[in-house]
Amino acid sequence: MSGLALVTGGAGFIGSHLVEGLLAAGMRVRVLDDFSTGREENLAAAAGRVEVVRGDCCRAEEAQAAVSGAELVFHEAALPSVQRSVEDPFLAQRRNLDATLVMLDAARRAGVRRFIYAGSSSVYGDSAELPRHEGLCPEPLSPYAAQKLAAEHYCRVFAGCYGLHTVVLRYFNVYGPRQDPSSPYSGVISLFIAALLDGRAPFIFGDGRQTRDFVFVGDVVAANLLAATRDLPRGSIVNVASGRRSTVLELFDTVQRAVGGGALGIEPLFAAARPGDVRDSLADLTRARDLLGFQPTVSLGEGVRHTVVGFLNATQQKEKLP
Ligand SMILES: NC(=O)c1ccc[n+]([C@@H]2O[C@H](COP(=O)([O-])OP(=O)(O)OC[C@H]3O[C@@H](n4cnc5c(N)ncnc54)[C@H](O)[C@@H]3O)[C@@H](O)[C@H]2O)c1
Repeated sequence: MSGLALVTGGAGFIGSHLVEGLLAAGMRVRVLDDFSTGREENLAAAAGRVEVVRGDCCRAEEAQAAVSGAELVFHEAALPSVQRSVEDPFLAQRRNLDATLVMLDAARRAGVRRFIYAGSSSVYGDSAELPRHEGLCPEPLSPYAAQKLAAEHYCRVFAGCYGLHTVVLRYFNVYGPRQDPSSPYSGVISLFIAALLDGRAPFIFGDGRQTRDFVFVGDVVAANLLAATRDLPRGSIVNVASGRRSTVLELFDTVQRAVGGGALGIEPLFAAARPGDVRDSLADLTRARDLLGFQPTVSLGEGVRHTVVGFLNATQQKEKLP
């Protein structure tokens, strides 16, 4: 791969891993991030090799300047939290939908070769059919899911109306090093790890028997690189996941074993299920295999161990490892 790639939200969890993957693949990389949830430390491994633009995707001028000269746009910027969107749907709408429309428009004006959008499995809601395939009728349950779905529609519309080559990747539950554990809105794996390393009992919302398809961030980066390079129809929508599901209780056990030591005696606390959360989730990866040649490679146990090591490295607590 060669040329310039723009990664919006590149200082965030997934975006920063994508930046490293693109650099390793030979691309030049520019990041557009307003650092609302992103952090400079996330880009430490790419320091000196990435151009970082501090700006807001919702502002047309900033978006247009950032996209200039880019061959590829990976749009990761968002407010990726169901709970935050329930509390403040208007703020979430701006970050999740308005930002996408502005970036799509900037990309088509600049003649970008491909626009790859970070979609979300939340668009499926609680539809009864499992595993979930891309042909299912979406049933969003939260403002976040509705916004991610509307943004997907804009991607398809920009492919149809303006000929922009868009690809939507519907990520399932992504986890890995650098997922921010400092907010109650973070992904469940980072919250479990942070609590157990601290010797605290984490909360499980609901009975813990709800299921999720957890996919390691390295596999998500691989799917993005394939989406940028494979010959596939413009406007494609493709699931990105592990294709396996675990209950939250099984996940707790996996994290507990990876952290080891004193964590082994900790029991989780239970709280009421949260509005907008789905009960079960599992991806059908047929289209991902057929269109992208995507094959997830990291098991949950292995991915959780990498994530624990990443957390310990970040907090210099490596000696705590079992
Ligand atoms: N983490 C998951 O499990 C998951 C699952 C499905 C979809 N996604 C999607 O993947 C993408 C990345 O999520 P993440 O988990 O890395 O989140 P994150 O919060 O770590 O990253 C989002 C980044 O976007 C930046 N940002 C937000 N609004 C912006 C704006 N208007 N202008 C510029 N920068 C802005 C933030 O500062 C942050 O760096 C999001 O689009 C999210 O909806 C994530």
